Amino acid sequence: MQTDRDHIWHPFTSLVGMSPIPVESAKGVYLFTPDGRKIIDAVSSWWVNIHGHSHPRIANAIYEQANTLEHVIFAGFTHKPAIKLTQRLLSVLPENQKRIFFSDNGSTAVEVALKMAMQFWFNKQKPRKKVIALEGAYHGDTFGSMSVGERGDFTRPFHPFLFEVEYIPVPDAENIDAVATRLTELVSTNEVAAFIFEPLVQAAAGMVMYPAEYLDTLLRVAKDHGVICIADEVFTGFGRTGTLFATQQLSVLPDIMALSKGITGGTLPLGVTTCSEKIEDAFMSSERSHTFYHGHSYTANPIACAAACESFDLLMAFECREAIEQIGIQQQKFAEQISNHPMIRDARACGTILALELETSGRTSYFNQLRNTIYNYFLERDILLRPLGNVIYTLPPYVITSAELDSVHRAIQGFLEFLQTGDGATEET
Ligand SMILES: Cc1ncc(COP(=O)(O)O)c(C=O)c1O
Repeated sequence: MQTDRDHIWHPFTSLVGMSPIPVESAKGVYLFTPDGRKIIDAVSSWWVNIHGHSHPRIANAIYEQANTLEHVIFAGFTHKPAIKLTQRLLSVLPENQKRIFFSDNGSTAVEVALKMAMQFWFNKQKPRKKVIALEGAYHGDTFGSMSVGERGDFTRPFHPFLFEVEYIPVPDAENIDAVATRLTELVSTNEVAAFIFEPLVQAAAGMVMYPAEYLDTLLRVAKDHGVICIADEVFTGFGRTGTLFATQQLSVLPDIMALSKGITGGTLPLGVTTCSEKIEDAFMSSERSHTFYHGHSYTANPIACAAACESFDLLMAFECREAIEQIGIQQQKFAEQISNHPMIRDARACGTILALELETSGRTSYFNQLRNTIYNYFLERDILLRPLGNVIYTLPPYVITSAELDSVHRAIQGFLEFLQTGDGATEET
């Protein structure tokens, strides 16, 4: 632990006062610590672990692949795990998706998506320079993905280095006409290269949910003006919103999609960017400057692809699809049941995701002080929740039992009582 304290830099964590909890092993929905704690992972370890920890089938697929072909340069070479994964993904992705580009994580999947869209216009010799994103968006931490995300305290040191982006509000029943009008104004200049969005749920923004029909309205406007539509499904992909992909709930298909997180069941880092024939066509050229010069050392790592194939097969099995449905029903029921609690500002659910916005004197924000009270309260009770400010959310691995999920819901209910009557109420901003 001393080495950790003195030499390891943890993500999204201040170097002052950090004290990470050591985890020795994990199985199913539980994390086990060396001092005997059994912590329920109600957030799927940063939203990646969809089949539970240390799943024997994925572990075995990794072992077999590591003993066969652990890695090979993916420029000029190929291998079965990448081909099998491509076949599996194309069998379920929206029908217009045609080609797969591999990278290592969600940020790079988005980075690749943006670069593909920008080079599409370059190759067409019709340069377009503007990108449109939604307010509150989070698309990752590399420079391109940061540029299209909401600007705030996280990104402030880098603002001078980020490219310009036009933001439009997340559509809702009240503003949809105004947002569509604003988007029409922006795209009518024919300068807009791409529109990027997190379909149905803006995760890091605080699990902000918005209906497919409003997104369809915006996508129609964008498509009418030739704008490339990029669905960032890094978070929503692989069953999170109830369907395999959130875009399956849309009528208008995206041109490019970014995937990661759940793709390997939370075992190994892997990112995927997929594109339609229209995008691919702009790169079908022997002109050297039309080639997509992008790649990573671990592009399409065979072990990660093998893990993803096994995770995909588990996801497609009847039991898993049923589990996703049952979790969805249970989360929705709890959201409805708790929505009138005086400490709840808003309760919402989408697929396997439950989000509860807590009543505080401060505004809803990542930096709301209630965050630490919530985090510590649940950890003391061996429940891992990682609230986004005053938004508590749960999105468990799909192997969670209904009794286990119920115990998390009951703990949340207990916390609300604690807030109403106890010390928690005084700690907010
Ligand atoms: C919608 C979305 N896009 C991209 C990312 C970045 O993914 P990664 O953390 O793997 O770089 C995230 C991460 O939370 C995300 O939620």
